[in-house]
Amino acid sequence: MSGHTHSSAEKGLRIAGFRDEQIRRLDVDGSFAIKADDFARQVKIDTDNGLIPAFICATIGTTSSLAIDPVREICEVANKNQIWVHVDAAYAGSAAVCPEFRDLLDGVELVDSYCFNPHKWLLTNFDCDLFYVANKPDLVNALTITPEYLRNKATESGQVFDYSGWQISLGRRFRSLKLWFVIRHYGVEGLRAHIRKHIELAEHFESLVESNSSYEIFQPRVLNLVCFRHKNGNEKTKQILEKINSEGKIFLTHTILDEVYVMRFVPGAIHTEMRHIDAAWAEFVKAAE
Ligand SMILES: Cc1ncc(COP(=O)(O)O)c(C=O)c1O
Repeated sequence: MSGHTHSSAEKGLRIAGFRDEQIRRLDVDGSFAIKADDFARQVKIDTDNGLIPAFICATIGTTSSLAIDPVREICEVANKNQIWVHVDAAYAGSAAVCPEFRDLLDGVELVDSYCFNPHKWLLTNFDCDLFYVANKPDLVNALTITPEYLRNKATESGQVFDYSGWQISLGRRFRSLKLWFVIRHYGVEGLRAHIRKHIELAEHFESLVESNSSYEIFQPRVLNLVCFRHKNGNEKTKQILEKINSEGKIFLTHTILDEVYVMRFVPGAIHTEMRHIDAAWAEFVKAAE
């Protein structure tokens, strides 16, 4: 993983029994994406030392800046060394419903597992994660335990999937039902329109930032995330964010990228329209005065 991988990956590794000293944080490039050559270098160092690199989590759309790790290049190294590649596309994965953003998933056909969360950006209530695994027995054989009281004909005849063998907990809620309703209600074109609208709103916000002399874009926009800051630096940017959030009209989060305090503007709510973006921007203009 890298320093930009979501903390849930590290938590998962801890649950799986990995210790801190067994986890490597790979170098990132200028866009905060993992450097595939650093991964290759690290794999070589570890294998030369008799260790067995076992797992890498790549991210399509990191939490802080929506950086896209180079999945295809990572897989080239990982597949040669029998390293499980998991891709976390929790947020950005929803954009792949639009053909024009499918490139985001370049290389995903080579990975061992992939997930994204429709509850983040695909109109589905919390919680709902789609998890894909390339070779089902790898997962199911690792997690299936069938005591007598769980035995039943439907599972044993292969008539049903027994999802207790796909996850940590035994039981699970019927989350796919609500996603099914979302898909039926909006249709594929409705889902695409939803994603495209937010990206258009973000493009508009980005152009407003670019045309203003007090603010600057810190990192080129990816999808609907605009990372920007006040030109006077960290303290001023932080003051602005705190002032705006304390007034309660809009709410936004921040991150730190290369020691730079950055505000994150993400239009992603169902009812957000262009007029809301203009109203939000007016708050930034006022706060910078
Ligand atoms: C890339 C990424 N992975 C995982 C998560 C965790 O998602 P959740 O809290 O919905 O499980 C997030 C949340 O922001 C994320 O951005």
